[in-house]
Amino acid sequence: MMKDSILKFPSTRLRRNRQSKWIRNLVEEHSLTSNDLIWPVFICEGKNKKEEIKSMPNVYRYSIDNLNEVRDIAESQNINLIALFPYTPEELKSNDGKEALNPENLVCKSIDQLSRSNKNFGLMCDVALDPYTDHGHDGLINDSGKILNDETNELLVKQALLYAECGADVIAPSDMMDGRIGLIRNQLEKNNFQDTLILSYAAKYASAMYSPFRDAVGSSSSLKSDKKTYQMNINNSDEAIREASMDISEGADILMVKPGISYLDIIYRIKHELNFPTFAYQVSGEYSLIKLAAEKGLVDEKAVVLEQLASFKRAGADAIITYFAPEVLKFIKLTE
Ligand code: PBG
Repeated sequence: MMKDSILKFPSTRLRRNRQSKWIRNLVEEHSLTSNDLIWPVFICEGKNKKEEIKSMPNVYRYSIDNLNEVRDIAESQNINLIALFPYTPEELKSNDGKEALNPENLVCKSIDQLSRSNKNFGLMCDVALDPYTDHGHDGLINDSGKILNDETNELLVKQALLYAECGADVIAPSDMMDGRIGLIRNQLEKNNFQDTLILSYAAKYASAMYSPFRDAVGSSSSLKSDKKTYQMNINNSDEAIREASMDISEGADILMVKPGISYLDIIYRIKHELNFPTFAYQVSGEYSLIKLAAEKGLVDEKAVVLEQLASFKRAGADAIITYFAPEVLKFIKLTE
């Protein structure tokens, strides 16, 4: 720690380092580039579809034949990783979410389509049952409404292996069951997927900020109860360190904190206490709050987005999942 005596006016004038853009650039401690961005993309059945999502302005669901547009956007914006999220037709949803294990499901078909185009970015797939269950929960549920941990894990391991076989580069368990990272890692090793990355949603909170996403994947109408028996209590932070530590010891390569802006303390603690690659997820509610406020002319969208993304970097995030990903390069250029 610097001695306070050194910081004395007028020998120290902190404004000297702020007086022009060139010196501000040189003393900048953190900066955001397209290297930091992951783009979540929604996919749907059908032909030539680019569906609007009511709760998320300027975010779309793409049919598989339109994924070339996604590829072109990602390439032009230097995006390194795309996260795929399916909008599963109601008739394919079931109590046990078995569509998750269908080798012809939307995610598998999308990986196949994108892998055939020569692309320069990675593909990440969520492992969880919620896009496929008729009750909207991430796991299997018993008659009294309890989410079953170990039974769910058996399915998640199969889902993870299926995505790895289809060609996913990054497996991202977002379900918050206990023990699933170790089980998935063992299964990947056993099946010669030594290079498949596991990005664990290690500290995922039972947040009120996911509702636009649940609308985007079509799980909101079916979800009758909250996810508090598996997602984390918003009042806890030591527990996030335990979650993250266990996932590291079970074989995760990267940890994720979710949501972002209200959990900067968690990003900071995980990054600095565990010294591990740590990503942040600026979730759907965070996205839509900014978009709608900007549409009403209340805030300057690009400035607010860059300010929030800067706060993730300051807190210690190595990369950020954000629905703004395709716009960020433009925003950076506009503010230069
Ligand atoms: C589901 C999942 C959710 C999100 C990502 N994966 C929603 C949930 O847990 O209910 C939320 C993402 C967002 O809000 O942008 N396992």
